Amino acid sequence: MLTILVTGGAGYIGSHTCLQLLEKDYEVVVLDNLANSTLEALRRVQTLTNKSLTFIQGDIRNPQLLDQIFTQYSIDAVIHFAGLKAVGESQLKPLEYFDNNISGSIALFNAMKKANVFNLVFSSSATVYGELHESPLNEMMCTGTTTNNYGYTKLIVEQLLEKLSQSDPRWSIALLRYFNPVGAHPSGLIGENPRGIPNNLMPYVTQVAIGAREKLSIFGQDYETIDGTGVRDYIHVMDLANAHLCALQNRINRSGCRAWNIGTGSGASVLQVIKTFKDVNGVDVKYEFAPRRDGDIAICYADNQRAISELGWIPQYGLEEMLRDSWNWQKQNPNGFNEG
Ligand code: NAD
Ligand code: UD1
Repeated sequence: MLTILVTGGAGYIGSHTCLQLLEKDYEVVVLDNLANSTLEALRRVQTLTNKSLTFIQGDIRNPQLLDQIFTQYSIDAVIHFAGLKAVGESQLKPLEYFDNNISGSIALFNAMKKANVFNLVFSSSATVYGELHESPLNEMMCTGTTTNNYGYTKLIVEQLLEKLSQSDPRWSIALLRYFNPVGAHPSGLIGENPRGIPNNLMPYVTQVAIGAREKLSIFGQDYETIDGTGVRDYIHVMDLANAHLCALQNRINRSGCRAWNIGTGSGASVLQVIKTFKDVNGVDVKYEFAPRRDGDIAICYADNQRAISELGWIPQYGLEEMLRDSWNWQKQNPNGFNEG
């Protein structure tokens, strides 16, 4: 069976992907510095699957450690999640973001090349489309106008990988452009574990619902959308994790670098999310309207036909299941992984 190195595998999307890899009998080696995660997530992954993985605590910016890993394990492919992802923080600490997300990625690609490992799945983001285009967004649209430093790092790494694959046909690279990941494993044992005040909508909603925060501020009520609030393409983390397995199966040893949108293909407004959350879970979410947030756009959703036709990936979960599973995780883990 193939051995996969998963950088950032202890994180939100990484842990769900490790779980699915183990379920499909891949050998899994995780490299994570635990900057934004805890080992508890991977303990639970092993409990849920009744299988074990190899965990190495360390940094992708450590070339000696990377060489050691590629020497010790016979790695067939890399799924690269490791990086920092807070948009606001990236504006305050650009160098940390450039270092972690860009230099870290280059260190990883160097070590891969040295070890003759050329199969890569990279976590990109719909943010690379910037503000230029109208949804549905498709992969033929040009990228290049990101509004924040986090988004810029994703764009740069995408461009580096494109050049790399042009210079050496041994590279086989999948760029997965995630839309808005939400939800959790249906068991409620693993999920998103934000530190501090959540920036993203879903963890904020569940924290209001559980009483940890008083009310949600809805950023903007005058967008040109169905009800004036922002529309996004929410995607269940289990579907997103599965996209990585589909990319591995379909890409291994195929030359080139190619991007795929990973979204459901339909959008929901903030008010629709709140109403559906209440209908599905029977819990109210208090909110107030607030001014628009800088950098937000009105509508963002995917054209996902390329992923469906080329990767054989089909999203299985709708908005109701996403909101059910987000709430189930929050209820069972009121303080994330800190309290079981
Ligand atoms: P996460 O923070 O939960 O996971 C990232 C993991 O990487 C964490 O476990 C962290 O400890 C680890 N890490 C960070 N820097 C590292 C380093 N230098 N060396 C080793 N490990 C390091 O985030 P996530 O939501 O699971 O996101 C995973 C990837 O997907 C990230 O690259 C992120 O930018 C990208 N992405 C996320 C979203 C989203 O909304 N969650 C959307 C688009 C793209
Ligand atoms: C944000 C980032 C994006 C990143 C993505 C995943 C910005 C501008 N964009 O996307 O770069 O890739 O997260 O990490 O930060 N909302 C509220 N109240 C809240 C939080 C959000 O009304 O407290 C609204 C937003 O205005 C938006 C929707 O909910 O309309 C979704 O927001 P969010 O979850 O932050 O995701 P994005 O803004 O799409």
